[in-house]
Amino acid sequence: MKQAARVQSLEYAIRDVSAEARKLVAQGKDLIWLNIGDPNKYDFETPPNIVEAFIKAANENKSFYSESQGIVPLREAIAEKEMKINGAKDLPIEDIHVTAGISEGIMFLLGSLLTPGDEILIPGPAYPSYSAYPKFYDAQAVTYRTISDDNWQPDTEDIRKKVNEKTKAILIINPNNPTGAVYREKELKAIADIAGEHDIPIIADEIYDRLTMDQKFIGMPSVAKDVPLFMMNGFSKVYLMPGWRIGYVYLQDPEDKIRDVYDGIIKLGRLRLCVNTPAQYGCVEALKGPQDHIKDTVAKLRKRRDLIYKRLNEIDGISTEKPEAAFYIFPHIDKLGKYKTDKDFILSFLKDEGVVSVFGSGFGKEFGKNHFRLVFLSQEEMIDEAMNRLERFIKTA
Ligand SMILES: Cc1ncc(COP(=O)(O)O)c(C=O)c1O
Repeated sequence: MKQAARVQSLEYAIRDVSAEARKLVAQGKDLIWLNIGDPNKYDFETPPNIVEAFIKAANENKSFYSESQGIVPLREAIAEKEMKINGAKDLPIEDIHVTAGISEGIMFLLGSLLTPGDEILIPGPAYPSYSAYPKFYDAQAVTYRTISDDNWQPDTEDIRKKVNEKTKAILIINPNNPTGAVYREKELKAIADIAGEHDIPIIADEIYDRLTMDQKFIGMPSVAKDVPLFMMNGFSKVYLMPGWRIGYVYLQDPEDKIRDVYDGIIKLGRLRLCVNTPAQYGCVEALKGPQDHIKDTVAKLRKRRDLIYKRLNEIDGISTEKPEAAFYIFPHIDKLGKYKTDKDFILSFLKDEGVVSVFGSGFGKEFGKNHFRLVFLSQEEMIDEAMNRLERFIKTA
């Protein structure tokens, strides 16, 4: 029996590389893992007050199925945070839907939004789920350029050129994975204008909103006041809880233009009953409790970012922009040498030097090619060692 056509072409480069790496581990190789954006695999831990809130909820038998949209105290805390920090307006808790990570939110939102033949504009390069799910729904992700030598800002002219009558939404990922870019107000406003002119919504993924190192982050709701927005956010990164699987989608839709699509998300949410209830109580504490760990996380990330940025640019054959947020850097391979593609380069780097990274074309064939993504969550000694190995590897390329 064969798998259905809709899943045959699905790819997820980040985990595909891990599969190769695990084969090497099985052969006894010791690897440096710079491929997965999971802070808890390194020296970052969920703040203890959040863990305690989870345990308390479980001990108090708050282990029932919750409301499909999420427990009320969590949606209230999300509304407060999004209004205070990211500029959301009038956010009733009915307009917030808690999901099993943003990942489930992407599946629900695109499932409710896209019909076969539709298009969605996504940044190139982009986090891979945003190109995979449109395919799954028989629609198409069309990539717009982000400009590598302008620190990966979105090319708003390219967006304008690519909007057509099939376009159902414009996606922005800000701060961005894989580039670490933080979008400027000018670009955000231009995107809001384009969406407004064509009467299409914006989807904004802001999961790295509080992990900015230099540039101030501007939430899309504070810029796009008259354009309908599907906002995506979650707890995996800022609150160091990726395995808890809690995220959310919320709506900014003063004229009820996209509410019907949002109602589709609610229907899908009901089908899967709810997300982990004690974990939702942990998330209430995450938002309401002390926020000090964010400053500490950012300080650690800044040091590691500065180191990897410096080391990469010192390597002949590699050049890179400086990420301003999150924990990813997306260098350009200036010298592919004997390798035909960035994927060959990265898989050989893995086999020869034992460093796990992700090939750039896995984030978008056109705008990701000849790049690769490194995660700088590991300690400085590991980053230094990985860079020594890259320096050695590229001499033989
Ligand atoms: C931009 C972006 N969105 C969403 C996700 C997935 O997040 P979640 O853990 O909430 O499913 C990631 C994970 O790396 C990401 O980088």
